[in-house]
Amino acid sequence: MPAVIIVGAQWGDEGKGKASDQLGTKVDYVVKYNGGNNAGHTVVVNDEKFALHLLPAGILTPNCTPVIANGVVVDLEVLFSEIEQLNARGIDTSKLRISNNAHIIPSYNKKMDAVNERMLGKRKLGTTGRGIGPTYADKMNRIGIRVQDLFDPSILRQKVEGALYQKNSMLMELFAGESIDIDEVTNDLLSYADRIKPMLMNVTAELNHALDAGKTIVFEGGQAVMLDIDHGTYPFVTSSTCSAAGACSGSGVGPRRIDRVVGVAKAYITRVGEGPFPTELFGEEGQRLRDAGMEYGTTTGRPRRCGWYDAVVARYATMVNSLTDIVITKLDVLTGLEQIPVCVAYEIDGKRVVDMPESQSDMHHAKPIYEYFAGWTEDISQCATFADLPANAQAYILKLEELSGCRISSIGVGPEREQTIVRTPLLAD
Ligand code: GDP
Ligand code: IMO
Ligand code: MG
Repeated sequence: MPAVIIVGAQWGDEGKGKASDQLGTKVDYVVKYNGGNNAGHTVVVNDEKFALHLLPAGILTPNCTPVIANGVVVDLEVLFSEIEQLNARGIDTSKLRISNNAHIIPSYNKKMDAVNERMLGKRKLGTTGRGIGPTYADKMNRIGIRVQDLFDPSILRQKVEGALYQKNSMLMELFAGESIDIDEVTNDLLSYADRIKPMLMNVTAELNHALDAGKTIVFEGGQAVMLDIDHGTYPFVTSSTCSAAGACSGSGVGPRRIDRVVGVAKAYITRVGEGPFPTELFGEEGQRLRDAGMEYGTTTGRPRRCGWYDAVVARYATMVNSLTDIVITKLDVLTGLEQIPVCVAYEIDGKRVVDMPESQSDMHHAKPIYEYFAGWTEDISQCATFADLPANAQAYILKLEELSGCRISSIGVGPEREQTIVRTPLLAD
């Protein structure tokens, strides 16, 4: 039985939450393996909207075990507030499990996130301000706080002290700020220990044994390949391994156990925060996509930058993630356009480039080379099969498939679970 990874194939917000939710009752475990509450995954079920940040979309599926694995960074306040909000709406969260090895976002790292952005000035990244970068930096710097530290108060205090030694000196010297109190932070973290204890699970062992027993696991990625710390548009990226490889390092399930890797991509493209974006549209065209696609961030409410589908990005996503399938979302948003441009290559310093450039300055200079495809005017939101789509919409999808180098297995025509055309099921019935 399969292990399926769902990854963002663009700059995030492609509809990974919906894709993950849709696999639904066929899935035994949904595992979040990277990122934290910088993610915002919106799932619409029977007209009811759920915006999930830290919790994976599997939390909405009865009988599925949602898991927060070692690669995630956990804001404990957010964790319990999301749980409470879902419980208040009648969602059972009692099956949620968390790795002892997941890192915690201490309150001081939210402050450090803001400080870092301020220090960068004009070169700021436009982070979500959730403390993600500083927490992954602490992890790499080996001064991070892990979930397991909550159960040893003396070790926890020593670790907080070690981390604050660096951060307090920086805050005081550079910003003449007030120093952060070690005991206050330690006691705040300890206050969550009893509540989190029943959720702990040896995630790596359990997931591997589950695969041995023929169970199905979906790994729900946060962010996307173009925001990946190694493979994205560095430094305008997030701080985790969002691409498919992160599912293995972020959970302890090895690469040979993965059966399918599904990239989720919009029929156009969006980006939040700073950084290069070759097909970005300014003015009316961009606003039209933003309005039709309701492109405002789930996490920060910021208007998303909008642009045309970029096949250079898509081919790169196929390559870096070894995609077996692409899920195209939001095809309905393009309805009504006379023609639809698709970026097939970049022009960089007068040369045609078909592969993602390695150099960041090249990416900043990249100009999109477009091919144009005929649009359609028919409402496609009720189309249930590929054949139901207008001929031009079918042709557009087939062209994206060819240009992206990967089969397109399903197509989203609206936000609801059911508004999806399945060409090749991601999981067997
Ligand atoms: P994620 O972060 O990748 O899970 O994506 P977000 O939830 O941040 O953003 C995707 C948005 O598009 C959500 O509001 C979804 O409800 C919505 N959505 C997903 N698929 C479709 C689709 O096929 N059509 C339309 N119109 N909306 C969709
Ligand atoms: P989902 O999972 C879109 C962006 C931020 C910023 C950069 C770094 O919903 O697709 P961070 O706070 O992570 O240090 O910010 O990454 N970013 C996202 N953009 N979707 C996301 O998540 C994102 N998570 C982070 O806007 O540019
Ligand atoms: Mg999102």
